[in-house]
Amino acid sequence: MNASVLVTLAIVLTAVVSCGDSSSDDDVNVVSAAADTDVSDTTSDIVLPVDDSDSAGDSQPADPPAEPPPRVDQDGLPLPNLSVSFDYEAYLNAQPEHYTSIDSSFGNVTSQDNTPFDNPVDNAGATLGRVLFYDVRLSANSTIACASCHTQQFGFSDPATFSTGFNGGKTGRHSMGLSNATFYSPQHFFWDERADTLEDQVLMPIQDPVEMGMNLLDLEVKLAQTSFYPALFTAAFGDEAIISARISKALAQFIRSMVSYQSKYDVAFAQGTGNDPDFTGVFTEQEQLGHQLFSGFPGDIRDSLGCITCHQTSAHTADAVHNNGLDANTSADEGAGGGFFKVPSLRNIAVRAPYMHDGRFTNLMEVVEFYNSGVQAHPNLSPALRRNNSPSGSPIRFNLTLQEKEALVAFLNTLTDEVFLANPMFADPFLKAGPTNLQGEE
Ligand code: HEC
Ligand code: HEC
Repeated sequence: MNASVLVTLAIVLTAVVSCGDSSSDDDVNVVSAAADTDVSDTTSDIVLPVDDSDSAGDSQPADPPAEPPPRVDQDGLPLPNLSVSFDYEAYLNAQPEHYTSIDSSFGNVTSQDNTPFDNPVDNAGATLGRVLFYDVRLSANSTIACASCHTQQFGFSDPATFSTGFNGGKTGRHSMGLSNATFYSPQHFFWDERADTLEDQVLMPIQDPVEMGMNLLDLEVKLAQTSFYPALFTAAFGDEAIISARISKALAQFIRSMVSYQSKYDVAFAQGTGNDPDFTGVFTEQEQLGHQLFSGFPGDIRDSLGCITCHQTSAHTADAVHNNGLDANTSADEGAGGGFFKVPSLRNIAVRAPYMHDGRFTNLMEVVEFYNSGVQAHPNLSPALRRNNSPSGSPIRFNLTLQEKEALVAFLNTLTDEVFLANPMFADPFLKAGPTNLQGEE
């Protein structure tokens, strides 16, 4: 991604969006007032939208401070609170130097960005994407949102081993965390990389018969019957047309804005010089040892752990699918074929249990013990996890001490970004909307 193009774009878009921002609440109101028509098949006795969100400043203290009425739209489903707008462009522009610099000692993250030229992240697009991501309308029976299986506080993953879809069915794999998806340069998504791009990926769960069971044409009609989507699509794409290609672009923009860069690990870079982290005073000695183990001891006589050969760069994303020796033979779930699976970013890993595509490990110590002593001699096992990195070598055995294993876990914990996990710009805009979509976590 060309930085100067980005900056120019950001300036232009900020200008455009800030014009839109000041009037966006009004837009929503105008639309809701004008769109009282298509209410035929909704539940009766629905209170039409009362957008009180922007009247806080000038309203009299007449309302009792009791429970606010459920915020329901004309279709009987939750109404988002759009009174606060967020600056996704500024958030992305504020990425620290160890992400943006081409000299980064951990590899250049920016050059791994998979943002396509025809879908850069802008504020109006990401704002629409956020609403879509949290909207139960995207499922056939309006019970499940993307966020039902990708929960912010859990690094946009799901604490359940397998997630529950709209009809009670279970997914075949563990839900994936979404932080730093933008830095996955091979572009492919899902554990088996079956989606060629993020734009392709985001429409797949909507149509998946287990996950959301929705037909895209029906979805376009359903969204057009709300009071607020026409205005959001206009802000993002210039007119009211609600088409799946735009749904895809907006969702992809929102996910690409989910860059995690404020963990303890990042603080160490911030106090270092250039792109060299300085862990002094930031990391404990244990965490420093863990970091060394993760990145390998150059010149150490012992086998390097070399986690970083697959979990790369300071964004901790990866280059391609790998076989990390979970099983001796390819199981029923072949992944991308031959037991190869995507290497997920390890950002926010500590809050994303259970681990691996099938959620087989319940905590990070189990993961570390697996790499330490449990790697299996699968025929496709990566050389990086074989002795001497030889394609014919036996699976590596690290023989770590308990202290070293604990240090590795401690290091992985430093990748948790509490700011990101609680950032309102990635949070549920429907949350105060009465019935929410986030109660059913397991
Ligand atoms: C019922 C649970 C469920 C719902 C709903 C759901 N997902 Fe997922 N998501 C998953 C699971 C499980 C996977 C991994 C599936 C696989 O690899 O086969 C996944 C994978 C992904 C990935 C791939 C991440 C990567 O790094 O490759 C993205 C992106 C994603 N989901 C976004 C979304 C979006 C956007 C929505 C809403 C339109 C959504 N998901 C709805 C469960 C869900
Ligand atoms: C050969 C490449 C490779 C190396 C080296 C490697 N990993 Fe992995 N890692 C993977 C792959 C591939 C997966 C996903 C496997 C799956 O689910 O089938 C994974 C998954 C993980 C996960 C779980 C991620 C999640 O979202 O569930 C953790 C944690 C992890 N690795 C940590 C480490 C640590 C620590 C090391 C060093 C001891 C390491 N890895 C070395 C390839 C590698």
